[in-house]
Amino acid sequence: MIQIAPSLLSADFSRLEQETADVEAGGADLLHLDVMDGHFVPNITFGPCVVSSLRDKTKLLFDVHFMLCDPLSYVASFAKAGADMITFHYESDADVQKTIDAIKSEGLKVGMAVKPRTDAAVLAPFLPQLDMALVMTVEPGFGGQRFMPQMLPKVEYLRRWAKENRRPLWIQVDGGIDAVTAKAAAAAGADVLVAGSAVFGAQDRCQAIRAILRSAGEEA
Ligand code: DX5
Ligand code: ZN
Repeated sequence: MIQIAPSLLSADFSRLEQETADVEAGGADLLHLDVMDGHFVPNITFGPCVVSSLRDKTKLLFDVHFMLCDPLSYVASFAKAGADMITFHYESDADVQKTIDAIKSEGLKVGMAVKPRTDAAVLAPFLPQLDMALVMTVEPGFGGQRFMPQMLPKVEYLRRWAKENRRPLWIQVDGGIDAVTAKAAAAAGADVLVAGSAVFGAQDRCQAIRAILRSAGEEA
């Protein structure tokens, strides 16, 4: 089953409640929340207060994508704000094991992400502990960039690992996913598709989500 996670980064920040309601009504499964610190990536987004303001406005699962040098220091505040899942980058300065433990001890699902220049095999020692692995299909930092098809072998590697080890690992792709690129991502084994501009850039969010699902081979 393919899940769609619209990325709020491409929403109208003056209308976040309405934007969230639109994608929930349109069939989204998760809400992807990109948290950037201006150091790990050259952009700054929002902190836990924005997440907590939205928490009681929607039933969508809050899928928080940390693009932070120091993810460990922010686990507790985002957990308190209502995150359901926190994904942090392998390339951050984090002690990986401590960060996984901290996220789990808050009772949240845990994910790890790799940037385009990082081999997915670096995640291998941690995969048995993860709920999700995230393959960035653009350089993190900004919405609206072009999908990098050369990332697909990483998705295939992770899907093969999950099959061989019989683990229910979610495999997320993030960056440039739309009604065209979703097809290749799903064929490679991705089952959580993040889409920012392709969903929030469309007038009809429901139609945009359905088009991505159809491209991924799902009834919509
Ligand atoms: C980029 C973010 C993405 C971004 C995706 O660093 O992690 O989640 O919002 O945007 P699109 O779907 O427009 O590439
Ligand atoms: Zn993201």
